[in-house]
Parts: sequence; structure tokens; C-alpha cells
Amino acid sequence: MTWLVVKGRVGGRTGTLLGTVGVPGDKSISHRALMLGALAEGTGRVEGFLPSGDCLATLECLRQLGIEIEHAGAGAATTLIVRGRGMRGLRPPKGPLDCRRSGTTMRLLAGLLAGQPFDTVLAGAPQLLRRPMRRITDPLRRMGARIRDTDGHGPLYIDGTERLGGGEHNLEVASAQVKSALLLAGLYAEEPVIVRLPGPARDHTERMLAAQIEPRPGATSSLTFDATSARLDPTSIGRLRAIDRTVPGDISSAAFPLVAALLLPDSEVTLTGIGVNSTRTGLLDVLSAMGAEISVDQVRDQGGEPVADLTVRYSVLSGTQVAGEVVVRMIDEFPILAVLATQARGTTVVRDAEELRVKETDRILNVVTELRKLGAIIEPRPDGFIVQGPTQLQGAEVDSQGDHRLAMALGIAGLLAEGRTTVLGAECIPDSYPGFVETMRVLGAGMSHGI
Ligand code: S3P
Repeated sequence: MTWLVVKGRVGGRTGTLLGTVGVPGDKSISHRALMLGALAEGTGRVEGFLPSGDCLATLECLRQLGIEIEHAGAGAATTLIVRGRGMRGLRPPKGPLDCRRSGTTMRLLAGLLAGQPFDTVLAGAPQLLRRPMRRITDPLRRMGARIRDTDGHGPLYIDGTERLGGGEHNLEVASAQVKSALLLAGLYAEEPVIVRLPGPARDHTERMLAAQIEPRPGATSSLTFDATSARLDPTSIGRLRAIDRTVPGDISSAAFPLVAALLLPDSEVTLTGIGVNSTRTGLLDVLSAMGAEISVDQVRDQGGEPVADLTVRYSVLSGTQVAGEVVVRMIDEFPILAVLATQARGTTVVRDAEELRVKETDRILNVVTELRKLGAIIEPRPDGFIVQGPTQLQGAEVDSQGDHRLAMALGIAGLLAEGRTTVLGAECIPDSYPGFVETMRVLGAGMSHGI
């Protein structure tokens, strides 16, 4: 067990954050870069890979499936060489694949493996085995996959088949993981697969496939997609080409220093090379509505994804309403939004976010429980929470509950609290943001590890 020790307000003064930093590579894109690299014909380089617990789970599973993945150069954990074996080149693994705590690994691999000619078992840590999997197994079965869940959860048992159908799938939840699983299975289907979502969800899989699909001679547009739907026609795919890519900085990690700089007086922080795909920038829209001063500069294209430098200054914020389509565009940012709302004037209401109940933990329950220990005025709702602000938080001992984003959000809350805060269970932080504490310290935050 490790913990975070956070120095908050002393003698009426908080710290100030100043400086320019990057953040580690995007988690969603890192997973997908490995999977699509594995199915490509030839060798591709991934720069800016996120060497987090979750993405390393995907890396190890792919190695078990016969894919060679090497680090380019000694110690360069963020630059990988992936030796793709083509769409039909995966090999049967020797045992169950361990997805650790990573929902993206289990759900996307379930799709990818549904149409392979061999059997696989997808296993994982107890925390992952509590998460819902029927949202994947039901539509995959409708495509003809022979996949069994365990009472709606993992482990998942996949019996190989080379006869997948396609079909139309109207999802009840705007989940990028489900959409991606169906598209990956769709690569092996005998007919087009169409996925429709009730709102926009991240479209990294589609963008990456679009860059890698080589149509059969004479065929066109194997893949079409927009904000809420995607259609893949496998019959017109020739092969996936290997490409080199640079992974943008993860906006879901950038959210932590960004919010901290907004809340700590006199702060000014620039975060460089951050992915600003509009399916991911809901937090920026909400922060602007609350009065945040954030500039988005040097917008550029990086391998089919928009990337920018974000500069954020201390701002006086007002409460707001968060509901509807923006929720999915910031689905991982609610723990840190809750912290921010404790410092905004007035009431912040979050609705339509029942998905938070089935993330790494029940994020509504745990955010409310832990922030209350610091003195926050926060009420749970079945589909969100209500926060009154501003509140002077008080340092206390809090618990991450094994949830990386909650651990970091509580660390930022500790910077605003009077006195010292200890965040127990900080060992999960590298699931998404290795180097979080070090980056916060570079910016001037009083944070350190305890072991
Ligand atoms: C992800 C999609 C989201 C997100 C998760 C990563 C992805 O999950 O919360 O951290 O990489 O596709 P859902 O698809 O379940 O909303």
C-alpha cells in the first residue's frame, strides 16, 4: 500500500502552480495503437505510448497472442515497435489472458478475439470482474460470436469461430468500448456491421482504422462514421497497413493539473501536446461555461487526431449544470469536476451520468463519500451529484478505493484543503498516469509519495 501526502493551505495561503509540462500519452489511443498494430501487416512504431498498468495489460495479452512488441532503445518505455502479423496472424494463447484492472483491454479484446479460429479466456483482477460485460457479450452473440460471460461479468470464454455475421446494433449506452468491440469483431464478419449510439462517444478506433485500412482492389469506403454512428464493410477490406504514430497527450490526465491551476491563486500552467478530439473535450466546454480562463493554442494534426497546447490561469468560477451529450465527452473527468465544483460559487448539478456507477468503482458513491471527509457539501443522485460551493476544505485521511482517477482528484483536493491530506491507496495512480506526483511537484505542488 502506498499513499500520497499532500500539503494544503498553511496560514491562509495555498501554493501556486507555474510552468509548462506535457502529460503521458492517451490511454484509449495507446490500447488501440497496440491492437491495430498487431493486426497490421508489417512493423509500426508507436511514440508516446502510455506505459500505464492498463495499457501494459493489453501489451502482455498481445504478446500471449504471438505479437512481438519491443521497446525502441534502452529504457524508452514510451516508444514501442509492434511487429504486426496481419489480420489472420494471431496465435492461440497458452492460457487465459490477464486483463488486470483494464476494462478497455477486456472489452476491446473480446471483440477482436470473437472472430478468431481459436478459443480464448479473458480474465482479470477482482475489481474488473465486478464490471458489466453483457453490453459486449449480447451484441457479439447477435453477430454469431460464441462468447460466454460469468453472470454478466468476466471472465469471458470465447470459442473460436470464423463465421461472424454483421448487422445493425443500436446501443443503449453511448460507450466507445462497446462500439470499438463491435467494429473490431466486424473486421472478421461476412457482412457490414453498423453501430448506432444515443450520443457522441470517442471515435479513436474509427480514425485509426481509417488510416490503416487498405481496400481490396476496386473497392471503396470500407468505413464511414460520424459522431454517433459507424459502418464497417469487411468485404471491401484488403488488409491493415502498418503505420508509425505518435500518441497525443491524454486530456483525461491533463485534467488534473489543469483544474489545480484553475483553483490555486496566481497559477498559470501550459500543458503541451494534448489531444483535443471533440469527443473528449467536454470538460473544456463545461469549464468555459463556469468562467475558466483556458486558451487552446497551436492546434495541429497528429496522426489523424487534433492536438493543442492548453494554457490555464487561476479563475473565479461559478456553479453549472452538466447533463446530456456532454457527459460522455467527459466521462472520465467527473471525480476532478466534483473537486472543482466545491470551489465554484453556487450549485453544480451533474445529471445523466449513471455510467459513473460502473466505472473502475462506483464513482458517484466514492466521490461523495471521500470528498465529504474533506468537508465538501455534496449530495449523491442516482445519475450524478449536486455540489454547493465555495467551501474551505479541511485536510483529512481519504481513500482512493482503488480508483486511479479518484486518487488523483483527492490529491488535488488536498492542495486546496487546510493543512495536510493523506490519500490512501495511491498505488493505483499509474493505472492511467505514471508520473502524476512528479509532474505536480515540477509545477510547485506540495505532494509526495509515502510507502
Ligand atoms: C474508453 C471509453 C470509456 C472510458 C474509458 C476508456 C475507451 O468507457 O470511460 O476510460 O478507451 O474506449 P465506456 O466506453 O465504457 O464509456
